[in-house]
Amino acid sequence: MKTSLFLALSAAWIPLAAQAIVNGRFATSPFLLGVVKVNDDCTGALIGNKCVLTAHHCLARNRLGEVMLPEYKSSVVVESTKTSKIISSFEPGYSERRCYDIQIAVLAEPHNRGYNLTKASVQGQSVAVAGWGFLGDYTIPKVLEFFQYTSKAKIVPSEGIVVPVPDGASGIAFRDSGGPLFVCKGAKCYVAGVANGKADGSTLMNTQHLWCDVRSNWAWITETVKAKCL
Ligand SMILES: *[C@@H]1O[C@H](CO)[C@@H](O)[C@H](O)[C@H]1NC(C)=O
Repeated sequence: MKTSLFLALSAAWIPLAAQAIVNGRFATSPFLLGVVKVNDDCTGALIGNKCVLTAHHCLARNRLGEVMLPEYKSSVVVESTKTSKIISSFEPGYSERRCYDIQIAVLAEPHNRGYNLTKASVQGQSVAVAGWGFLGDYTIPKVLEFFQYTSKAKIVPSEGIVVPVPDGASGIAFRDSGGPLFVCKGAKCYVAGVANGKADGSTLMNTQHLWCDVRSNWAWITETVKAKCL
């Protein structure tokens, strides 16, 4: 029962594991306060002054909903009761050549702590991911997790950003679609991708985690941010 529910809802991160969190850790950096919960299945990243970058398939179920803005408590980023309403949302056009499972939701009020995005290629770079996921069981409140991959990112134009996961299980909580992929240079981290809820070639031994890259949707993202998010 649990396995089939898991496979149905989250092709994504940990295909065959019973445990929700395999190798992640709790989000202990206040930098991660910009990672919001979009709904019980999805995560997003604050961008601009009043927008959230997430996956299109997440907002298909939360079109005029709200997002939860986390708080920093006892050195961990945790859920709060603070929410912000989504007043509209925008998506890039369909393409066969690039991942387009991306959406920008406009919030009712500014948050002024949006991440910067990067147009630089993450090919061969170290990357990290953050997402709100269930801890071990669907009944336990979600926690924000942060995970730095040990393998390097690869760009596959039609798919987006791929990170091979040699043990098939490393990663963070499942049901974290829409969450940001970060690339950090020194103390500065930028959003390079959006978790799009797919995993390729999932086996216990070898999985690839996939993100839509912001780079191949750059023109649409920058135009939308300029028009709707500042
Ligand atoms: C984004 O970039 C601006 C300009 O370089 C900088 O002032 C700001 O601190 C950056 N924001 C984050 C969250 O890194």
